[in-house]
Amino acid sequence: MKQQVDIEVAEAVDEIREVVGSWKKQGKAVGLVPTMGALHSGHLSLIRRAVENADEVVVSIYVNPTQFGPDEDYEEYPRQLEDDIKKCREEGVGAVFCPSDEIMYEDREYLSIQIDQLNETMCGASREGHFEGVLQIVNKLFNVVKPDLAVFGQKDIQQYILIEQMVREFKHDIRLIQGDIVRANDGLAVSSRNRYLSDEQRTIAPGLYRSLRYLKQQLGPDVDNVSLMIRHQQDELEAKGFEIDYLNIFDYKTLEPIEQMESDHTYILAGAVYLGETRLIDNMLLRI
Ligand code: PAJ
Repeated sequence: MKQQVDIEVAEAVDEIREVVGSWKKQGKAVGLVPTMGALHSGHLSLIRRAVENADEVVVSIYVNPTQFGPDEDYEEYPRQLEDDIKKCREEGVGAVFCPSDEIMYEDREYLSIQIDQLNETMCGASREGHFEGVLQIVNKLFNVVKPDLAVFGQKDIQQYILIEQMVREFKHDIRLIQGDIVRANDGLAVSSRNRYLSDEQRTIAPGLYRSLRYLKQQLGPDVDNVSLMIRHQQDELEAKGFEIDYLNIFDYKTLEPIEQMESDHTYILAGAVYLGETRLIDNMLLRI
């Protein structure tokens, strides 16, 4: 692990630009890991990927209001900047960018990023305006930091695919790296929102992972009752106490739900469920 005592903490755009500018003058490759803070082992694994692949790493910590819906947890979202900075320092991060709302947004914004078909399934279908808010902030972060590479997690696979599309369409000169999903011992994908779960809900929560793992083992191009198998897992999850937003298999490129799998394709087995008020998501990739 790269130990670094002095970590830059920048709140202003000019400040972080100056830090990154000085690194670039020295010919260093800069990596960015965008986060909303409350850093956990999943975030830390992305930071490590960035540290391995770049000479200097910026972690942005910003709870972005525009990606939360009116009934979502923007107010309750955990904020623990000092602790996060400490973790970043231990990982060898060179700078933390933690702007205020005033710095990231104009009083009134006249422009937005619209998303077409890729927003009509999975989380896009049920979280109106969420991914527009994500792209709006990630686009700003890319323009502020101008990293050579950026790391995002497979955990939020639709987010990853949309950011990849934005990089391509908007011609950002940034290499994207996809980090694996970090899980607890019982399989539950680590998430800042897991802290909302009661003890009982926490014991039920890995059921989503187990259903996905079961489906991943069972599904393949020879299976012609894909929908039936998925329906069965949905029933099982409901019986355990989950409320299902979606559990399905999607094409990796179009994000459309599919009925029959074909060889030489990549698919996403993905689910979003509620345990009480808490929304959990998880996915697995299937390359066949
Ligand atoms: P946040 O939820 O803080 O997640 C930051 C990054 O950590 C994302 O790329 C996410 O996919 C990754 N991540 C979350 N849980 C993970 C896990 N268990 N294993 C591995 N990686 C994990 O995603 C966001 O913030 C925001 O939408 C953001 C991109 C910062 C824009 O505001």
